[in-house]
Amino acid sequence: MKIITVVGARPNFMKAAPIVAAIREHNKQAGQTYDGLDGQIADPTIDHVLVHTGQHYDALMSDSFFADLNLPAPDIQLEVGSGSHVLQTAHIMEKFEGVLLRERPDLVVVVGDVNSTIACALVTAKISFDVAGTRPLLAHVEAGLRSFDRAMPEEINRVITDHVSDLLFVTEESGIRNLRDEGISPDAIHFVGNTMIDSLLTFKDKADASTILSRLGLRAQGSGNGNGNPTARYALLTLHRPSNVDNRDTFQEILHGLEGLAADCPVVFPVHPRTQKRIKDFGLELATSIRVDATECGTGAKGIILTDPLGYLDFVCLMKHAAVVLTDSGGIQEETTCLGIPCVTVRENTERPVTVESGTNMIAGTTKKGIADVIRRQMGRKYSNRMPRKWDGEAAERIVNISVRAYCERASTRPLNFRSPLIPSCR
Ligand code: UD1
Repeated sequence: MKIITVVGARPNFMKAAPIVAAIREHNKQAGQTYDGLDGQIADPTIDHVLVHTGQHYDALMSDSFFADLNLPAPDIQLEVGSGSHVLQTAHIMEKFEGVLLRERPDLVVVVGDVNSTIACALVTAKISFDVAGTRPLLAHVEAGLRSFDRAMPEEINRVITDHVSDLLFVTEESGIRNLRDEGISPDAIHFVGNTMIDSLLTFKDKADASTILSRLGLRAQGSGNGNGNPTARYALLTLHRPSNVDNRDTFQEILHGLEGLAADCPVVFPVHPRTQKRIKDFGLELATSIRVDATECGTGAKGIILTDPLGYLDFVCLMKHAAVVLTDSGGIQEETTCLGIPCVTVRENTERPVTVESGTNMIAGTTKKGIADVIRRQMGRKYSNRMPRKWDGEAAERIVNISVRAYCERASTRPLNFRSPLIPSCR
């Protein structure tokens, strides 16, 4: 059985890494079981190909994650780089078609909701290997999430990817409801848990070895960086959504909402390349901001501490010890829920409601007053967060098992242009 897994942008790497590891584990046991009826192997070895579209290409946005997450180097690199959404998506589609025709996989796995996700999903759904229209199965990991905000590029990517996928792997129960409401067959929907949380649970202890707290001056002077060392009280901030940073007034309003917090404690702000450009283009002065290179030593002074984008282990270490995390990212809402750290989401909505219902997340909106109010409430709140169902570190294993079953079912019934899911759901 041949599987292609696609990664392209930063949040894809931690979602795909556990799947690659689960395939490696599967192969240690595979090839043993035979189906009695036609002698076909029911537990085949998986030939795995990792494709990187190159949507993110800077070392700090891509390479460092491969090292931190023990991801093997990509087998195929498409090197598409940046561009308008249309051009980026089109370039990926064009190059990925060549990959599929050459590799002829049985299954393509796409993760998340970035442009690489929708581009490779569309190619997989439309490709034809022969006159009968044979094509690979398509699996979407993180299916069913909906912000119900079609102005978000990711919402378009999610909806379309879900509607052309054969196997929909869902992270939280809202995803099941959304997909059913959109008419997707329950047989295609598999509630498996969250592979991003698989990564977090695998690496969160290792993240304690990061030296980032010392490098930013957030440890007591002279202390090392292991567990148990005193940590300063600080907040962690990420902002990169076009709707937040591409408009000067909105970006400025958000920064005003953070002023009270920055006067109270250091606010560590690893700055995404898109956001770096906007700060420069708009000539924004981040009051009391200090620029710290990720390798140099900060003073831990109050104010906004700007850094380059950080690696996975450094960022997890900063999340674990933060008093509060402020973000417009989707994944960070989930990671803080898992870690039990208060999260202020600087957006009008979330496609991950479980992080609010049973987690540590509050939606602040993007006004100065809304952000300042929610920060105040989060700083004073006591948590007894519950871990969302199936966020147990075993999502990737479930995904591999279900995928292998789908492949075997398909091989034994052989409908050449596979369209409808053949396997029972594992809810
Ligand atoms: C993309 C995803 C978003 C995800 C985010 C995580 C889409 C539609 N958006 O947004 O869902 O949350 O990644 O980071 O897929 N750039 C660099 N170096 C890089 C990559 C990008 O400098 O390695 C710059 C380029 O100028 C580029 C800009 O950042 O134009 C934005 O990159 P892009 O991939 O278009 O979107 P993101 O904002 O990163």
